Order: sequence, then C-alpha cells, then structure tokens
Amino acid sequence: MSGESRPGEIWIAPSLLAADFGNLAQEVRDVSEGGADCIHLDVMDGNFVPNLTFGPPVIRAIRSCTSLPLEAHLMVWHPDSYLDDLKESGVDRVIVHQESDVHLNRLLDRIRGMGFSAGVAINPGTPAGHLEEVLDMVDLVLVMTVNPGFGGQSFIEGTLEKISRVRDLRQSRSGRNFRIEVDGGIGSRTGRRVVEAGADILVAGTAIFRNPPYRKAIRELRNAALPVRDEP
Ligand code: DX5
Ligand code: ZN
Repeated sequence: MSGESRPGEIWIAPSLLAADFGNLAQEVRDVSEGGADCIHLDVMDGNFVPNLTFGPPVIRAIRSCTSLPLEAHLMVWHPDSYLDDLKESGVDRVIVHQESDVHLNRLLDRIRGMGFSAGVAINPGTPAGHLEEVLDMVDLVLVMTVNPGFGGQSFIEGTLEKISRVRDLRQSRSGRNFRIEVDGGIGSRTGRRVVEAGADILVAGTAIFRNPPYRKAIRELRNAALPVRDEP
C-alpha cells in the first residue's frame, strides 16, 4: 500500500461511519489535515451485517478529497464481486472478513494480484486460529473489538487476549510481517490497552467524529495509545 506503517509505529484510522454524511468531503479533509494516517471505509451490504452504508461511487468521491491511504472494510457477502469497482474507485487496501467467503485463500490471492494491500478481519466470535493458514498472505489482520455493523458500541474485553494471540502468531514464524488493526469501541481508555496487547493501527469513529476538533481528538488518541516510556 502506498505509505504502509513501519513496525512499531501506531497509526490512527478515522472511520467515516461516524462522520456527517451530509458534509462528507469536508469531514474527510478535516481528519486528513488533523493528523490521520489513513481513512477507514465501512462498506456494509445490509445482509452480512444489519446495516447499509456506501460503496464504490461514494469512495471515488472520497478519493478526490484526500491523499491518505484508503482502506475498505468489507462487511458484505460475496466480497469478490466488489473488487473491480473498488479498484476503479482508488482504494489502497481491501479488508475482507474471514467469515464472508469459504474460499479465503483464493480471494486473498486475487486481492493481492490486483495490487491491493490485503487485509483479513475476524469477528469477536471467531478464534484467531481460524486465520492461521492465510497469515503468510496478508498485510493486515483486523481484530474486531465489537460485533460489526454499527458505530458507538462498547469495546468487548475478551478481544484483548485475541489481539495478543494474533501477535504471537505473527512472531511464531519469521517472514510474517502483517500489521494488527483493531476496530470498535476504541478511544483514549481502550487505546493503550489494545496497543499493549499488540495493535498497530487503531480505527476510531465515535472517539474522533463526536469529539471535535479532530486534530485534538486524533492527538489525544495517539498519545493515549503510546507505550509508557520508562523514566531515565
Ligand atoms: C463497526 C465498524 C467500525 C465503526 C467503529 O462495524 O467496522 O469501523 O465505525 O465505530 P466506533 O469507533 O464508534 O466504535
Ligand atoms: Zn470498520
């Protein structure tokens, strides 16, 4: 992906789900200028999850408002059928759910072959081990810290252990280099804990868009997430 995070770096990815959809262009510009590292786009089909959002035409419009990397989090059945249009719309990273396609290996292969950065997401109820066979194929693992579908939900405590488990799986084989992203209920209070468990990229909707000014909200989240430095 154009501009991937470096190992050890913490990225903040605002989720537009909590933005003002009537003022989307300005919202995207404001978080871009406010210090965001990439833009997180929640694509929902009203079927894989009980909510419906936006797709490639809206993403194309968002592309023209920012030079930051765009990542599409696909909460849809048949994610394969969206890939050509997402390529056209200028998305950099595609994240598919492990639960959404029984041919995950083939799907990730196609995503990589199309030149996307490839991410795989797991729901809170899915064990980390279900990803083991594809971990050498992905640039990112997204550990859902709420059940997907809506913003503003409470962080599920049990997912902390899963983040650590994914980190252990990364360390267990040399050459594995994917980033670990978390999504749902992330704010200043949970930020530090998910980073300590192993997260590299924090998705945040409510904590940023319902907490203006955005520059301050992003800075607060980044500062809260930074590991505590030992006093000299
Ligand atoms: C939930 C989405 C999230 C959502 C997070 O299904 O995948 O990206 O926007 O929202 P907050 O940060 O409000 O929990
Ligand atoms: Zn998301």
